[in-house]
Amino acid sequence: MSVNGLFSTFAPMPEHKLYIETYGCQMNVVDSEVVAAILQQYHYQLTEDINEADLVLVNTCSIRDNAEQRVKSRLRDFRKLKEQKRSVSIGVIGCMAERLKEKLLEDELIVDLVVGPDAYRKLPELLQKVESGQKGINTILSLKETYDDIQPVRMDRNHVTSFVSIMRGCNNFCAYCVVPGTRGRERSRDPETIVMEATELFSKGYREVTLLGQNVNSYHWNEGDSLLKFEKLLERVAHIHPSFRVRFATSHPKDMSDDLLKVISQYPNLCKSIHLPVQSGSTTVLQRMKRRYTREHYMERISAIRDYLPGASITTDIITGFCGESEEEHQQTLRLMEWAQYDFAYMFKYSERPETFAAEKLKDDVPETVKTRRLNEIIELQGKLSLESKKRDVGQTFKVLVEGTSKKSEEQLYGRTSQNKVVVFPKNDLKPGDYTDVTISACTSATLIGH
Ligand code: 5AD
Ligand code: SF4
Repeated sequence: MSVNGLFSTFAPMPEHKLYIETYGCQMNVVDSEVVAAILQQYHYQLTEDINEADLVLVNTCSIRDNAEQRVKSRLRDFRKLKEQKRSVSIGVIGCMAERLKEKLLEDELIVDLVVGPDAYRKLPELLQKVESGQKGINTILSLKETYDDIQPVRMDRNHVTSFVSIMRGCNNFCAYCVVPGTRGRERSRDPETIVMEATELFSKGYREVTLLGQNVNSYHWNEGDSLLKFEKLLERVAHIHPSFRVRFATSHPKDMSDDLLKVISQYPNLCKSIHLPVQSGSTTVLQRMKRRYTREHYMERISAIRDYLPGASITTDIITGFCGESEEEHQQTLRLMEWAQYDFAYMFKYSERPETFAAEKLKDDVPETVKTRRLNEIIELQGKLSLESKKRDVGQTFKVLVEGTSKKSEEQLYGRTSQNKVVVFPKNDLKPGDYTDVTISACTSATLIGH
């Protein structure tokens, strides 16, 4: 399906050049591809050269203050661009657009267009306003929008791995998190359109898809009288082809069911890699975070993953220095990390976000120096765990999907194991999209090296 016909009320336009810069999560990457598809119908062609662009869009993230600061500094760069070429329009889209709304038009005089994550279909009309010298803004959130009829214009570089968005928004309201505010309520996408989009990727030569959602394992869809849950959808996608790998992100521990783990264990092409954000190893911190599970429940879910999926990798997200975090609560996070033996982790200092529960009701009282020290301890421990995880793979053979040429040498390729670990190995006659068995001979904390 396409967006043909949507713009029949608009006169045909001469060709314009669109440059998109994307910050934040993988969801934003797909959203940029959706935006490119919508604007392609309006005669905007993508360019990688910002200097030839007629429209520059920044797809933004609000998750931590430093993500927003990075975009603000980028907007200052764009001021110079606009001075050189007055005809260029600048748009802010995504989570910052939703959070800051008109403020972006007031503060940054150069911004012409502000569009929230659920309003991308309105881009063509908003651009008409901009073309007539006005500012364009739409930040209305929707209970239904999933862009399920829009085929994204793929912007990946390897043409082997891609993403399909299967649900949008979030209903969890974790105390620290801006996402329910910027992306609205949770809604799942029609499974038929998901399977169609994934099948199309496979037929174009892609060999891996990651199903995306802010809370992906709470996906559900009513089919007549029956409920299609995430594991059933996963099974349908797994059936597309045995050599089409499937991943998913991001899961919430409360929805990591045995049924889901059982399905993953039954299909070799469902990747044996689970990303399960813990955020904190302390039940009292988890309560203040409104995470809706305890340390014990989380540990029980990790044990279930190990039982159903022996050899699977487990990765996580951790926030350190959340409101009121004591030294003992911090130590509990370190001890949980050791216990879980995470293969990899994304680790962050707590950053207070306006209008969240924590910003309004809790005190951001862990001093910056303490947050930094705790983060360093967490990073150091994870460095050790990541290296141990890679060392366990030395001597073993893994089926690797080739993704491209290694950055360090033209003679080497890189790819990933089912466990999502990066492997570098000699080129031989292989090309991106091939599968090959690689025996691991050495490693660093980030990469496996094999032959
Ligand atoms: N401060 C720091 N980290 C945060 N995350 C989400 N909100 C915040 C915040 N306010 C982290 C969580 C989440 C990941 C995407 O970002 O760990 O899982
Ligand atoms: Fe950033 Fe969250 Fe928005 Fe993704 S959903 S762009 S991580 S704020």
